[in-house]
Order: sequence, then structure tokens, then C-alpha cells
Amino acid sequence: MKITNICCIGAGYVGGPTMAVIAKHNPDIKVTVVDMNAARIAAWNDSDVNNIPIYEPGLSDIVAETRGRNLFFSTDVDQAIFDAEMIFISVNTPTKTYGKGKGMASDLKYIELCARQIAHVAKDDKIVIEKSTLPVRTAQTIKSILKHTGNGVQYQILSNPEFLAEGTAIRDLENPDRVLIGGDHNEEGQKAIDALVKIYEAWIPKEKILTTNVWSSELSKLTANAFLAQRVSSINAISELCEVTGADVTEVARSIGMDSRIGSKFLQASVGFGGSCFQKDILNLVYIAKSYGLTEVADYWEQVIIMNDYQKTRFAHNIIRTLYNTVSGKKIAFLGWAFKKDTNDTRESAAIYVADILLNEQAELMVLDPKVDKETIYADLDYLKTRAPEENRKLVDVSSDPYEVCKDAHAVTILTEWDEFNTYDWQKIFDNMKKPAFVFDGRNLLDAIKMKEIGFMYESIGVR
Ligand code: NAD
Ligand code: UDX
Repeated sequence: MKITNICCIGAGYVGGPTMAVIAKHNPDIKVTVVDMNAARIAAWNDSDVNNIPIYEPGLSDIVAETRGRNLFFSTDVDQAIFDAEMIFISVNTPTKTYGKGKGMASDLKYIELCARQIAHVAKDDKIVIEKSTLPVRTAQTIKSILKHTGNGVQYQILSNPEFLAEGTAIRDLENPDRVLIGGDHNEEGQKAIDALVKIYEAWIPKEKILTTNVWSSELSKLTANAFLAQRVSSINAISELCEVTGADVTEVARSIGMDSRIGSKFLQASVGFGGSCFQKDILNLVYIAKSYGLTEVADYWEQVIIMNDYQKTRFAHNIIRTLYNTVSGKKIAFLGWAFKKDTNDTRESAAIYVADILLNEQAELMVLDPKVDKETIYADLDYLKTRAPEENRKLVDVSSDPYEVCKDAHAVTILTEWDEFNTYDWQKIFDNMKKPAFVFDGRNLLDAIKMKEIGFMYESIGVR
């Protein structure tokens, strides 16, 4: 089966970059990314590629190369579904905020809407691909919706979860550790799998393309994120033990990471993991385990989240305690708001929760993030509903000038590991701060010895 026309529903952090890379390596295939968010599509179509809605190193170059050639962005979802032989569903699957499973289960309403729209529009056979991260056995739901349309259209459902990390999306897509494709092990299922394999083979070695049954593929995605997040919570748990014993968490991480069975990646102690995936996917895993009555399994994974919440709270409380038990009316500089460097995404960023705790104590915050705008910062705080929006605007200000952000501050906090924070003139920052001048480095980013030589009271994670 030769694919000539692909549609992707969802022009977000996954749909946009993934389809751009597929289009780049498959110039003969027309790829149309559709979204019901008209503003987002307009931004993808902005004549200046620097204005596309997602910041990812290398992405704008690929969009410049492919957009209008074989990559298109549109709000006409029906037309794109109608035309395509292969449809990726890459819509958001956030944690439910209502009803059964509230605060734990994935909200699949957008997935179901997509399935219903496909069922309504399709007039010929389609391969439907789950690109979104989904609870194990969701393909069953999609299949059931598509099967009951009665218009004779045949569907094959594949699971093709995405493993890219934000900030390195293009690198991860160009050179993935593996591509995972789950499908039915019958003749038609195999044909669909082969069609998708062919698209990836345009740039990925065959041995890196793994095929499994649908349920293994769905569950592997949740499991991969749970394992990665577990490593961060594990090293963060050890970071507190380091602080009370005189061990240094960076030395411990290096020492254990050299054991090839453990490996050195994902052992960076921090103020806590953020991002739209880890928490959502683990909560979902916990919910699934509970729904099958597997209490011990659920409790085991839930602890990863409990530890992460503790790490964020612990960081904020340490600031308050160190600033003589009161931050009321004190200016605190926030360097970083995104959940990690090289992205403009702030979903579940630790910075939001640390800020919220400090604001409860009436601190005055001044924030700088190289890629996050003022409105997003206010929206993130307002979303928590901890205080009135006017109050957030009164207590929080934003600037792009680090020297203004830190001027007269009692403390500077590092919440995101942006490289540029290391290039600042820290002597100048010190000279203009209130004394004693505190730095709370939630990313162990700055040079501790240099900072102490300048005169800062410098604290990082897992080192005292
Ligand atoms: P996102 O919120 O950035 O994008 C999703 C888009 O889908 C939105 O623009 C929304 O308007 C659109 N949408 C929702 N329902 C629609 C519908 N019925 N019709 C048309 N458009 C619709 O989300 P994302 O970060 O790209 O994540 C998408 C999925 O990929 C999630 O399941 C997520 O768990 C998974 N994932 C995300 C990442 C990541 O790093 N962000 C990595 C791997 C997997
Ligand atoms: C994650 C997975 O890595 C990716 O495979 C999946 O597709 C989506 O979820 P992402 O959330 O974009 O990607 O970024 P990631 O690099 O995993 O970082 C997640 C969070 O953990 C960030 O807040 C990061 O700062 C934090 N982190 C990561 C640490 O605190 N320490 C580490 O050692 C690694």
C-alpha cells in the first residue's frame, strides 16, 4: 500500500514537529496538519517562520523547507480526513478535571471526538494512528466507534506513540532510539503496519523500528514515561539525604551512573520534574492499575508523584525558612518559568508551584524566561485559582532584563536550566541585591565555588 496523503489531527507540540519531520523525509507525500484552534493554525502559517507557535531548536528551518511544498496547516479538518489514506490522531489527552477518575484518569473526549469525526467524514478505507499517549486498550474504543458507522469503510488502528522530548524534539525525531508501532497481527493489520514502517524507513534504520501488538505499544509509552520520571524522583529523594549527611548528589549521581546497568542519563537532581507528560501519564497508569484492583502496583507508581510534589514544596519552604521565616514584601527573582530549557512550554512547570507557595506568603516576584511571555505566566498562576487574578498581577512582574529582575531582590531562584543564565554578570547582580544575597539554584546550574567567592549565600539541590 503506497501512502500519498497523510492527515494529522492536532497541531501541537507533537503533531507539528512530528509531521514536519515526516514531510521533510517524504517529499512525495502530502502531509496536512489540522487543528480546531484557528489561532494556532494561523501561527503555523505565519509568513515569518520565527512566529510558529512552538519553540523548538531546528523546527523553524524544517517548516521553512517543507511548508507549502508538501506540508500544510489547515482548520479544515473534514477535508483533510476525507483526502487522507492515513490519519494520525495527535490531540491532547489531559488529566480529567471532572467526574469519575477526576485528577487521575486521562480525559479522552478529544480522542473520541476525532474518532466520531473520522467516522462521519470517511468514504474510503483509512489507517488511523494513535499518536497521542493513551491508556492501554483505547484502540478498542476507537475501533468500536469506527465499526458502527455502517458505511462499509474499513479501518485499521495502529498505535505509534511518540517519544520525543521537548527542547530536543527535532534531534529526537531525526535520530530516535526506536520507533514503536503496534498493530493487529492479521493480514490487513500487517499491511497497515508495513505502510507506516515504510514512511519511517525514509530516514530511520529498519532495526530501530519495533513492531508489537497494539496493547503492548500503548502500555510501553506509559511505562517509558513512568520509568524516566521514577529516576528523577529517585535522585531527588537522595538529594535530601545528601543535604543532611554532607554527601553531594552530583557526585552520587556520577558514581552510580557509571554503572552501565544504571546508566548516567536522567539522574539530574532538580526542583522537580514538570511538563505535560510525566505527571499525567503516571496518574493515568495509577488509575488503570487501580481499576484492575492492583492496589500495590498503583501505590508503587503513585509514590513517584508524591516525591515530586514534595520536592517542589521542599524547595519553596527552604527559601522561606532561609529568608528568616518571612518573605512577605520581599522581592524574589525567578530565573526560568518553562518546565525545562529550550522550550516555551510551561505545562506543570515546577516554577508555577514554587511561585504559588511564595505568593501565599506575600512575596513579590519578578520573573524572566527567555521564551515565555507575560500573559502565559499570569495564565499559569490564574489557573490554580489560589488568589484573584488582580492579586497575581499585583505581586508578580515580568522583565527580559536580568539586571532589572534581580535588582534589590533578597533572593534569586533558578527554576529552569537555560544556558544564558550562566552568561550573566553575577558580580553585577550581587552588587545590586539586598544583603545577604541568596541564590537558590533549583537546577544546580551555576558554579557554586564562583558564586560563593562573589559573596552569595548559594544553595543548590542535594549539596550543602
Ligand atoms: P497540544 O495540546 O500541544 O496539542 C494538541 C492539539 O490538538 C491542540 O492544538 C488542540 O486544539 C488540538 N485538538 C484537540 N482536539 C481536537 C479535535 N477534535 N480536532 C482538531 N484539533 C483538536 O498537545 P501535545 O503536547 O502535542 O500532546 C498531544 C499528545 O501527544 C498527548 O496525548 C500527549 O500525551 C502526547 N505526547 C506529548 C509529548 C510532548 O512532549 N508534548 C511527547 C509525547 C507524547
Ligand atoms: C518526556 C519524555 O522524556 C519523552 O520521551 C516523552 O515523549 C514526553 O515526556 P519531556 O517531558 O518533554 O519528555 O522532557 P524531559 O526531558 O523528559 O523532562 C521532563 C522533566 O523532568 C523536566 O522538567 C526536566 O527538567 C526534568 N528532569 C529530567 C529532571 O529534573 N532531571 C533529569 O535528570 C531529567
